[in-house]
Amino acid sequence: MTYSLRKITLTTLMRGRADASITRSPDSETEELDEVYLHTVTIHGREFHKYSIDNQIAFEPVDDEEAERLDLQHRVFSRIFDGRLIFPPIRRLRRVLDCGYGAGSWAVDVATQYPDCKVIGLDISPHKNPDDMPENLWLQVDDLNRRFTFPSNHFDLVHSSLLATGINRARWPSYLADIKRILKPGGWVQLIEIYFNVQSDNGSITEEHALRRWSTQFMRSYEGTKDLRVGTRLNNLLLAEGLEEVDARMIPLPLSAWSNDPRMRDIGMLNRENINKLLPSLALYPLTQISRVPQQDFRELIAQARQEAETANLKAYFPLYVCIGRKPR
Ligand SMILES: C[S@@+](CC[C@H](N)C(=O)[O-])C[C@H]1O[C@@H](n2cnc3c(N)ncnc32)[C@H](O)[C@@H]1O
Repeated sequence: MTYSLRKITLTTLMRGRADASITRSPDSETEELDEVYLHTVTIHGREFHKYSIDNQIAFEPVDDEEAERLDLQHRVFSRIFDGRLIFPPIRRLRRVLDCGYGAGSWAVDVATQYPDCKVIGLDISPHKNPDDMPENLWLQVDDLNRRFTFPSNHFDLVHSSLLATGINRARWPSYLADIKRILKPGGWVQLIEIYFNVQSDNGSITEEHALRRWSTQFMRSYEGTKDLRVGTRLNNLLLAEGLEEVDARMIPLPLSAWSNDPRMRDIGMLNRENINKLLPSLALYPLTQISRVPQQDFRELIAQARQEAETANLKAYFPLYVCIGRKPR
C-alpha cells in the first residue's frame, strides 16, 4: 500500500485495490492514510517513526529537530553544488519524483523553481513535512523497498538523496531497475549518498579517535540490513542496469572549517552545525538500540567526536557521492 498526502489531506496510493474510497493525487490512485503510519515512539528524548522501526525500514529521528537539521544540510548541499538542484542537462522538466523527501527542502525548491513541473515526493514517514507547500508538489507515503506502482516511462527526473540507511542491502539493483522503468526514455536519475566512513587525507585519524569509532560502530550497526558503502558503487549499479552517460563524483564534505581553500572553508563553516547535530541524531538508534552501546558511553563518544570534528588539524571529511545516469531513448 502506498500512501499519498497533500497538505493536510492524507491519502494513499492504491496497490491494486478497487473497492476503497479514493482521492486522486497526480498519476496515482490514492486513499486515506492508514493511522499505522502516524505513530511515533520516543527513545532517549528523540521521536522515531514506529512503523519504520518495527519494519526495520529507517532508524533516524522524525522530530522537528531532525527536520531542521535536514533543512540545514540541504543548505550545505546547495553551497557545495553552487545552488544547482538538478545536475543532468534536462531541457524541459514536466514530472519529477523525489525518493525519501525527508523535510521536503529539495522538492519544495524544485517545485518553486519549476512551477509548470509536477513534483511528487515519497517518504515512509510524513512527520517532517514542510509547512508551506507549492501547489505543484504532492507528497506520498510508501516504502521504497517495495516495487514501485508508478506507471512506466513517466518521469523526466528521479532524485534519490541519502537513502543508504533506508534501502535494504539486497534491494538496490531492483530499486534502480524500478527507477529506470518509471523514467521516460531519455529521462535522468540523480543519486546522492554520504559515505559515513570518516576520512582525513593527512592520515591523522587513527582507530582510537572517537570519529573513527563513531563511523565503525555506526556502519557495523547497519551491516545486516543496509549497505552503507553503496555511495562508492552507484556508478557500477547504474551501468549494470543499462543506464547511459553515467557520471559519478566524490566531493569531500568537510566536517568543519579546516580547509585553506576559501570555498571549502566556507562549506565547512556551514556544515559544522549540521555535523554537530548529525553525529548524535543518526547514531542514536543504531548504537544504543541495535548495538546496545550504554547511554553514558554513547554520550561520551558523541562529545569527543564533536570536538574532533572541529579540530582543524585532523582535516576530517565524509566522502559525498553524486551520480547521474540517463535511460536510453
Ligand atoms: C536521511 S533522510 C534524507 C532526506 C532527503 N532526501 C534529503 O536529502 O535531505 C532519509 C529520508 O528517507 C526516508 N526513507 C528511508 N528509507 C525509506 C524507505 N525505504 N522508503 C521510503 N522512505 C524512506 C526517511 O523517512 C527520511 O525521511
